[in-house]
Amino acid sequence: MLAPNPISLLCALLLCLPLAVIFTTTPATPPPPPPFSFQLPLSINKTHHIQKHSLNNTYTSHIYKNALKTTNNTTHVHKHSINKTNVYVQHHNNNITVWDEDDESVSRLASRVNPDPPLGRPKKIAFMFLTNAPLPLAPLWELYFNKVPNNLYNIYIHADPSSRYNSPFRGVFANRVIPSKPTRRFSPTLSAAARRLLSHALLNDTSNYMFALLSPSCIPLHSFNFTYKTIIKSRHSFIEILKNERGASGRWAARGNTTMLPEVPLSHFRIGSQFFILTRHHARIISNDTIIWSKFKLPCMMNYTYTCYPEEHYFPTLMSMVDPHGCVPSTLTHVDWRGSHSGHPRTYYLSHVGPELIQTFRNATPRYGDDGMNGSDSSVSRQNHPFLFARKFAPESLTRLLDIANDVILKD
Ligand SMILES: *[C@@H]1O[C@H](CO)[C@@H](O)[C@H](O)[C@H]1NC(C)=O
Ligand SMILES: *[C@@H]1O[C@H](CO)[C@@H](O)[C@H](O)[C@H]1NC(C)=O
Ligand SMILES: *[C@@H]1O[C@H](CO)[C@@H](O)[C@H](O)[C@H]1NC(C)=O
Ligand SMILES: *[C@@H]1O[C@H](CO)[C@@H](O)[C@H](O)[C@H]1NC(C)=O
Ligand SMILES: *[C@@H]1O[C@H](CO)[C@@H](O)[C@H](O)[C@H]1NC(C)=O
Ligand SMILES: *[C@@H]1O[C@H](CO)[C@@H](O)[C@H](O)[C@H]1NC(C)=O
Ligand SMILES: *[C@@H]1O[C@H](CO)[C@@H](O)[C@H](O)[C@H]1NC(C)=O
Ligand SMILES: *[C@@H]1O[C@H](CO)[C@@H](O)[C@H](O)[C@H]1NC(C)=O
Ligand SMILES: *[C@@H]1O[C@H](CO)[C@@H](O)[C@H](O)[C@H]1NC(C)=O
Ligand SMILES: *[C@@H]1O[C@H](CO)[C@@H](O)[C@H](O)[C@H]1NC(C)=O
Ligand SMILES: *[C@@H]1O[C@H](CO)[C@@H](O)[C@H](O)[C@H]1NC(C)=O
Ligand SMILES: *[C@@H]1O[C@H](CO)[C@@H](O)[C@H](O)[C@H]1NC(C)=O
Repeated sequence: MLAPNPISLLCALLLCLPLAVIFTTTPATPPPPPPFSFQLPLSINKTHHIQKHSLNNTYTSHIYKNALKTTNNTTHVHKHSINKTNVYVQHHNNNITVWDEDDESVSRLASRVNPDPPLGRPKKIAFMFLTNAPLPLAPLWELYFNKVPNNLYNIYIHADPSSRYNSPFRGVFANRVIPSKPTRRFSPTLSAAARRLLSHALLNDTSNYMFALLSPSCIPLHSFNFTYKTIIKSRHSFIEILKNERGASGRWAARGNTTMLPEVPLSHFRIGSQFFILTRHHARIISNDTIIWSKFKLPCMMNYTYTCYPEEHYFPTLMSMVDPHGCVPSTLTHVDWRGSHSGHPRTYYLSHVGPELIQTFRNATPRYGDDGMNGSDSSVSRQNHPFLFARKFAPESLTRLLDIANDVILKD
């Protein structure tokens, strides 16, 4: 049984693609979008237009040179484009910071860290939890990390500070919350949070080598050892990168139908699950990116709320522009979009959980991005990578998950 969800408009409008998983107490019903209104947040100065050649200098960056060589027509720049670090979105009458000067400074520092982890020390996996509530499945993760030497991993948590926490983060999660800002669906705040996690993880430990983004409803599908061995040797990131998805043009135009130009023409726009595993190299590229982010951090037009999923667009688009060959175009976090409900994928409750379910996930084959063999090395995309995580699991499923943890979930 799926829980009833008030956001019913979504199902009709959305692709079956992952959304931010947020355990809100009750997801607020978004206000009905006023038709044909183009509402910029008040804090954005509409008169501050990007000048025709203002992006000239940044075109020289070698990283972007190839990506941008087909997009040198600056006359498309939307007149509401802005050149400001501080971006706010108006959400349910709260003025929420998307990205500010502090974020910018932290990113800048992170982009300058050593690209290589130190020799002679084990590489670490950074497990990055993006949440706006306590982690309901924490006891399962405690078993996962039980007895794992702490020189093999770090945990980071981005926790929406506007949520009330009854219980603090404990055990392996104690003192792992990074400086966080409020997050909301249908806004760039979730991608901003993921960027913040990447930057902090880069700066916190030079041994962090792979960066996995997780939601509070994710579970592990294998032991830590299995996951570590699977990804630590990879020189590729695992990130779903889909081209020609139905509805892509609406998602691309959500900030205004020419706003993304010239940096992100529709032909370069990609869609994919926000739950990625990125290499240190790619984490650094994301921290260093100001050009593509300058577009994705912009708020969506009010009448495009239901195509506003920057967290499913920014990362796949940037990776596909900058280093498609460095990516396995697939997410290793299993999700079931059949019978999705109100824009949420299938949720597993207590009665669904059992050894068979875990086995089904383990036997499933990831979907590889449809950029064809040009999007990635053919050797890479023909491999069957194992799913390492799965979502989304309701808090009530915890007791059953714990029952089968040692004999099934964490056994390889
Ligand atoms: C949204 O509003 C903009 C600006 O008024 C308009 O150009 C666009 O067609 C509208 N889109 C939809 C889907 O209503
Ligand atoms: C939102 O907050 C920022 C920073 O506090 C402020 O500069 C801006 O004017 C505020 N905007 C609105 C609409 O309240
Ligand atoms: C908006 O930007 C223009 C041009 O940079 C500037 O002259 C004006 O003072 C700004 N207005 C506000 C309210 O920031
Ligand atoms: C780039 O900027 C330089 C100086 O700022 C200017 O001379 C040149 O014409 C610009 N090039 C383009 C293509 O706008
Ligand atoms: C944005 O503004 C900053 C500071 O005002 C300026 O240095 C920079 O050149 C501007 N960038 C663009 C793309 O206009
Ligand atoms: C960061 O970006 C700047 C220009 O945007 C570029 O010159 C520099 O090489 C980039 N550094 C890395 C590490 O990607
Ligand atoms: C970009 O624009 C310049 C000036 O208009 C032109 O000389 C150049 O060939 C263009 N490059 C591409 C790739 O279209
Ligand atoms: C640049 O954009 C203008 C305005 O849309 C268009 O008329 C022109 O054909 C474009 N030039 C190129 C080379 O794409
Ligand atoms: C990394 O984070 C941990 C936990 O917050 C902290 O104790 C440690 O000092 C940090 N290390 C660096 C280099 O920032
Ligand atoms: C994980 O791997 C390490 C070293 O490869 C080994 O010592 C340890 O026993 C393994 N743990 C489990 C639970 O298999
Ligand atoms: C933007 O949308 C308007 C209204 O739907 C349409 O007239 C215009 O052609 C669109 N522009 C582009 C570049 O798609
Ligand atoms: C793959 O790339 C090659 C060379 O870059 C190109 O000739 C070919 O058309 C591309 N194939 C597809 C399916 O895009």
